[in-house]
Amino acid sequence: MGKSNNTKNQSMHNFLPYAWFQGNFVPFDEAKVSIATHSLHYGTAAFGGMRAIPDPNDSCNFLLFRADKHAKRLSQSANLLLAELKEETIIDCLHNFLKANHPTKPIYIRPFLYTSDLGIAPRLHNIETDFLIYGLELGDYLSPEGVKCRMSSWTRQQDASLPLRGKISGAYITSSLAKTEAVLSGFDEALLLNSQGKVSEASGMNLFLVRDNKLITPGVDQDILEGITRASVIEIAEDMNIKVIERPVDKTELLIADEVFLTGTAAKITPIKQIESTKLCSERPIMNKLKTRLVNITNGNPDKFSHWVTKVKLSN
Ligand SMILES: Cc1ncc(COP(=O)(O)O)c(C=O)c1O
Repeated sequence: MGKSNNTKNQSMHNFLPYAWFQGNFVPFDEAKVSIATHSLHYGTAAFGGMRAIPDPNDSCNFLLFRADKHAKRLSQSANLLLAELKEETIIDCLHNFLKANHPTKPIYIRPFLYTSDLGIAPRLHNIETDFLIYGLELGDYLSPEGVKCRMSSWTRQQDASLPLRGKISGAYITSSLAKTEAVLSGFDEALLLNSQGKVSEASGMNLFLVRDNKLITPGVDQDILEGITRASVIEIAEDMNIKVIERPVDKTELLIADEVFLTGTAAKITPIKQIESTKLCSERPIMNKLKTRLVNITNGNPDKFSHWVTKVKLSN
């Protein structure tokens, strides 16, 4: 059964031909770990998720969005697991990864730090780790037309239980439970409250709402992942003189908001069209302005924030 599942999953995605694994580039199919791998059992791993696209203005280049921020968050996440992973190492590997694979379509890159030891004690000391990278072609993760969300029966974890400032693998059990609960009950995505009963985020995206032309989002003290898309949207909004307020958000506010949308590397900017049985307004002028600007930046066009994009030359 496991074998057929693997085959099915692999054919669902177009993985890039080479992975960085145990210090070398190897064919993706040969990058394999033991069933006794520590992180497989305990979720003791940290990961990043980045998008990269062919440069629409120069076919020799590939564009990486906010590579420095992603490298910093992953390095910090590794540190939270008591492992060392330098930002420069991540950036170097990402560049070499693109050059080794020569992608031609938009991709999602998954850099991953994990406890690679075969021991059974749950721990983070005296343990071997490995850093790997693989990638796959990825189009839209959620429908750009908008998604239907349900309020999850699962609560977002709290920072007192695990380091939520990192992108730690073990934390994604809650995301997985929430996402599946949402999909199996006829919705596309889940919105999670935090342990204080305030809105936190979706299964893998941050959340924004617009009320009276002001952009509101739960603050970094609301048990959110500090999303890089979220930070980018805030900077863009401020630059466009849209007032941004970071504060606790009640569930009811979502139901009466003028616009509600999700942000994330995979989801980009995705509008929410319905929450539970409440249909939300389909006019989204502020979200649309922010999205247009963000797409312009990620496509490598001239902008005050064009330095957010790294151009990696794939061929001469
Ligand atoms: C739980 C969670 N929240 C928010 C985000 C959005 O973060 P980013 O914009 O850095 O992709 C992600 C995606 O990585 C996530 O997994």
